[in-house]
Amino acid sequence: MRLKNKVALITGGARGLGQAMAELFSDEGAKVIALDREALTYQKENVLFMECDVTHAPSCQDVVEKIVKEFGSIDVLVNNAGITRDALTHKMTDEAWQSVIDVNLTGVFNLTRYVGEWMMEQGKGSIINISSVVGTYGNIGQINYAATKGGVVSMTKTWAKEYARKGAAVRVNAIAPGYTMTDILKTVPQELLDRFAKMTMLGRLGEPKEIAYAALFLASDEASYVTGQVLGVDGGMRL
Ligand SMILES: NC(=O)c1ccc[n+]([C@@H]2O[C@H](COP(=O)([O-])OP(=O)(O)OC[C@H]3O[C@@H](n4cnc5c(N)ncnc54)[C@H](O)[C@@H]3O)[C@@H](O)[C@H]2O)c1
Repeated sequence: MRLKNKVALITGGARGLGQAMAELFSDEGAKVIALDREALTYQKENVLFMECDVTHAPSCQDVVEKIVKEFGSIDVLVNNAGITRDALTHKMTDEAWQSVIDVNLTGVFNLTRYVGEWMMEQGKGSIINISSVVGTYGNIGQINYAATKGGVVSMTKTWAKEYARKGAAVRVNAIAPGYTMTDILKTVPQELLDRFAKMTMLGRLGEPKEIAYAALFLASDEASYVTGQVLGVDGGMRL
């Protein structure tokens, strides 16, 4: 039981990677709060749903206060909620640009600004931000998404410094998943998915559980000397 009695908050916990992390964290003894703007697509012991749109700062503050009041602590925060709105740069609407910035970048800021402060007072904690291979390598038709996922890496590095002040053992790391089968890939043509699979050394797409295991490591005390890192979980992508 790597997360026994820990309280873990996972954004975008209703399905996909968030679901895989919530289920695994619960199996490892954590009390999990799955935040999402949509209801959970599954049921799991010790996984509690709280409705929250991460783009709305007052709701994020409210939810953090509620969790601390009810559970007494937040030990792990996974900033996982994310969306795509793909288009080539010259065809991208202001709305598509802004909506991805709002969820993938401002949403990460909104939760961390409250949870990070709380963790510093508590003297410890683990924050895990979900970036992407696209944040490192870029991708045609994803200028908005790439900007946010690159931004998440620099936020990770900055918070690893900020939240380690005053002797606090708050660790902040990112995971950069490769292409992993969830709803977010629904709109990607199979031909392109096959091409992405061939770009990896392992010759296949990832499974949600493979990302969840990386998050489990970073959330656990086994990663007590790991901070400010970006862990690629991408089958050895060669872009
Ligand atoms: N699946 C992949 O191939 C892949 C690769 C790299 C990175 N990622 C990243 O992993 C994370 C999870 O993606 P996924 O593949 O599970 O996608 P998904 O679409 O299955 O799940 C995303 C979840 O985020 C929630 N969400 C979206 N906007 C929200 C908001 N404003 N407030 C609260 N919740 C919101 C959705 O309701 C959904 O439950 C994302 O940040 C994504 O960018 C995914």
